[in-house]
Amino acid sequence: MSDERRTLTTRQGHPVADNQNTRSIGARGPATMENYHFLEKMSHFDRERIPERVVHARGTTTHGFFEATGKVGDDPIAKFTRAKLFQEDGKRTEVAVRFSTVAGGRDSSEAIRDPRGFAVKFYTEDGNWDLVGNNLGVFFIRDAIKFPDFIHSQKPDPVTFERQVPNRVFDFASQSPESMHMFTLVLSPRGVPASYRTMQGFGVNTYKWVNEAGETMLVKYHWLPKQGVKSWTEEDAAKVQGEVLGVHTKELRDAIDAGDHPEWDLHVQLMSDEDHPELDFDPLDDTKVWPENEFPLHHIGRMVLDRNATNFFAENEQIAFGTGVLVDGLDFSDDKMLVGRTFSYSDTQRHRVGPNYLQLPVNQPKGVANPVATNQRDGQMTYYVDDEGGANPHVNYEPSITGGPAEAPRPAHDEQGPTYNDRLTRRRIPLTADYRQAGERYLLQEDWERDELVKNWVDNLSQCDRPIQERCVWHLLMCEDDYGQRVGEGLGISADDVRGLEPLATQTLSEAEVQRAANLGNNGPRDVNGLVMTHCVPNEHQAQVEYA
Ligand code: HEM
Repeated sequence: MSDERRTLTTRQGHPVADNQNTRSIGARGPATMENYHFLEKMSHFDRERIPERVVHARGTTTHGFFEATGKVGDDPIAKFTRAKLFQEDGKRTEVAVRFSTVAGGRDSSEAIRDPRGFAVKFYTEDGNWDLVGNNLGVFFIRDAIKFPDFIHSQKPDPVTFERQVPNRVFDFASQSPESMHMFTLVLSPRGVPASYRTMQGFGVNTYKWVNEAGETMLVKYHWLPKQGVKSWTEEDAAKVQGEVLGVHTKELRDAIDAGDHPEWDLHVQLMSDEDHPELDFDPLDDTKVWPENEFPLHHIGRMVLDRNATNFFAENEQIAFGTGVLVDGLDFSDDKMLVGRTFSYSDTQRHRVGPNYLQLPVNQPKGVANPVATNQRDGQMTYYVDDEGGANPHVNYEPSITGGPAEAPRPAHDEQGPTYNDRLTRRRIPLTADYRQAGERYLLQEDWERDELVKNWVDNLSQCDRPIQERCVWHLLMCEDDYGQRVGEGLGISADDVRGLEPLATQTLSEAEVQRAANLGNNGPRDVNGLVMTHCVPNEHQAQVEYA
């Protein structure tokens, strides 16, 4: 051990001469209350935990960089967005990335069937941009108001605390047909990636790009891993879970430490920012993907992760992502999930981390052209005054002629996007199309994925009440004959058994869907000729057990 070890102190700077024995009256007498060292040490320990994330509590943060291509196809990217980080070929921006599971607690198993969070914080010169996505490309619901109910159905039973009770999960699913597409992915092997390095990432929600002239495009983001896509079956995952809970964090950290730096290409899909009556889905609906044969992927950069976190708490527990965190040239769409999410993230972070969470190093902007200068003051754990060293520290308000930060120049185009002329309402989007893409997804899966999907539906639904089973089989038959029939066979439920079910009161079926319901189980396979959807890349089965 080196002689240069530092002297242990309290946070008041007092050297600590004895860290083993509490001060007391005599060696065996009562302890005293004025013992500052003991009080500071113990009371800090008592406050070591902050509330874990209400979702995505189990995760791991890694650092690296994003490098732009400067182009969309043959066009300079400036034609579509003025966001500075994308403009030049080879331009690098520092990133922090947090991968996570959704439903489990902070120490829960990582080898679990669950969507994976894929959240990227870009520390750009214009401030932070967070792209908070997942590995599956779609989501279970399309309106943020359903999120607390959805998450309750996924979390432990409020009475017994049993985790993910199928009767609760599929009770909610059976009443939420928009979730069929996402369940078709989550219950397939894509629901248990073999590692964080071998999964795709998606922004999921539809955003906008804005160019210098104020013209907007709808945009979807895709991260494609250079390591390929690899997944586990339920059996593989069970074996791994029996041995280690934090398998994916360890695998990622070990790879980076060994110099094997994972890399993803960033692609976008673009669509004009207007109504699209020609489409059979709503491009603002996050339960849908945009078919890639119609909306091709454009490569706009790559991301490399090359540095592990050195302090799990400071960099992983306290990092805070949010969908509201955009930079100039990027914007929101009217996707109702996106708007609801944007409230939720910073709201929970003010509660979970504290009102000054943006002063923490991992959340602060880095390398910004304009250093942070706000008039936000005080609150718990204020660490410094933003704009320390500003011209006049007495001015913590704006406007002022005596000092303080002044407004930035207005963008050349401050008005953008479609005009609105409609009444306030609480209606569903008109084009729900809850079944088509789920059915197509089923048909486009590889055989081993489909077999595993059907098995997982049957295993889960076998533990559910009969009305939940019947409604789910009805939904799956609406997606695709073979899908519903195979799950139904596993449960002893035929199309004839469920043909009489009325659509849910919360559903409005299209003409085509009314026809499908009338011919339930006899609609013939959907035509997926030439169709390319997210995940149409090989998914390698990385077996962990011996298969017969
Ligand atoms: C209305 C819908 C949603 C709401 C209200 C919501 C809310 C939340 C909340 C409260 C957190 C915890 C944040 C924290 O404590 O720092 C969180 C984390 C997260 N959510 Fe959502 N979420 C929604 C939908 C989604 C969707 C659709 C995705 C994927 C596209 C997603 C991806 C994530 C990720 C990746 C994290 C973890 C971020 C991290 O690693 O710190 N969420 N969400």
